[in-house]
Amino acid sequence: MSAAQPTGTASQAAGRWVFPDSFVWGSATSAYQVEGAIEADGRGESIWDRFCRQPGAIVDGSSGAQACDQYHRFPADIAMMKDLGLDAYRFSIAWPRIVPAGIGAVQAAGLDHYERVVDALLDADIAPLVTLYHWDLPQALEDVGGWANRATVDAFMHYVDAVTARLGDRVPTWMTLNEPFVSWNHGYLTGEHAPGRRSLPDALAAAHHLLLAHGRAVPVIRANAPQARVGLVLNFTPVEPLTESAEDAAAAALMDGIENRWCVEPLAGLGYPADTAASLGWSAREVRDGDLATIATPIDVLGVNYYTTQFAAADPDLVPPASPATDMGWAIRPDGLSGLLRRLHDQYHFPAYVIAENGAAMPDQPDASGFVQDDDRIEYVRSHLAAVHDAMGAGVLVEGYFLWSLLDNFEWAHGYAKRFGIVRVDYETLQRTPKASARWYAHVARTGVVA
Ligand code: FCB
Repeated sequence: MSAAQPTGTASQAAGRWVFPDSFVWGSATSAYQVEGAIEADGRGESIWDRFCRQPGAIVDGSSGAQACDQYHRFPADIAMMKDLGLDAYRFSIAWPRIVPAGIGAVQAAGLDHYERVVDALLDADIAPLVTLYHWDLPQALEDVGGWANRATVDAFMHYVDAVTARLGDRVPTWMTLNEPFVSWNHGYLTGEHAPGRRSLPDALAAAHHLLLAHGRAVPVIRANAPQARVGLVLNFTPVEPLTESAEDAAAAALMDGIENRWCVEPLAGLGYPADTAASLGWSAREVRDGDLATIATPIDVLGVNYYTTQFAAADPDLVPPASPATDMGWAIRPDGLSGLLRRLHDQYHFPAYVIAENGAAMPDQPDASGFVQDDDRIEYVRSHLAAVHDAMGAGVLVEGYFLWSLLDNFEWAHGYAKRFGIVRVDYETLQRTPKASARWYAHVARTGVVA
């Protein structure tokens, strides 16, 4: 048994899961969701700034213009994470702060800011895990085609080179992309996310260019950060057919192909899933010689985001509402996480995994002091950690867990209506109040024991 394997199998029966000492306990956020300060230090416009101004795009008409103001409050947030005993912090760098016009001049003030953030984390003994692209494309690049335009891949290399040349000596783990599926599907096909386009050809071109940008970025990062580990973060939503009918099985296979296999299979060197490509009528005209090999450049670690498992049916109207579910309406299915990790391990063979996001929006009820007794969120996290432990016991190398999210924050098209934080944010005063889940998670992080 390797040092990274979990121990304490005997105690599992009593509802106690012991993780290895090396297991990393972290929390996660992303730039646009927490930073605010969208005008500071020469930041350029992002597609989310523009999208949030479209009437009806965000349920509460809000934007990330202020968010949690972490841009200015990061020292206090880092001190809070230290108090909670967290080992690591996953955050993203805003591309429009580094290359405001998408191409050309690098904004030194943006790099200076993230250097201060990284140094403050290291001083607090919290390992930074940096996501380079968490959906905030410079608007100037969208204006010339966005991810549907292959030239955006070159622009990404310029940005990645600038960031990793400055911070490559001190950030131990780099993730190129967050959830490319959501970028291409929600951004370019359903239009529910920025840039709000609705075109299948553009979406599939965007998917390919995102994955190509990842593959081309890996050697750039390795050259600038030879000690660091490099990967990317994918989201997975396992799919189960609603009934045993052949029609529902086909619907489930197609949904799995689009939502899960479309990104992971090319990364694992298997190319795009042929059955799904045929169903989508994709010509693959944007795939050039060498692209698939570039996309399959080996990575050191795969970030896995997991929130829920879904049912698929030939007639989607027959799928009943999820129950039990979180405040997002997402089914609470910890078994889906252990099954997913086993599937990744068995079918795709990545060298190691981190849970880069897992957590729950819940209908929090603060008391007069702002404190939230969020037993529902604790139970969600507890059951999913048990699922991670289960997969580790079956031989999957999971190195850490990043709870989404440290803070209540701007939940994209849901605005501020959904709260995922283990720390409550009062959006009037920006005051932070750790919830019961933060205290519980701090105990887990300190002891390595989930109980
Ligand atoms: C994921 C995103 C993250 C957050 C959670 C709830 O899809 O990566 O930014 O919004 O969902």
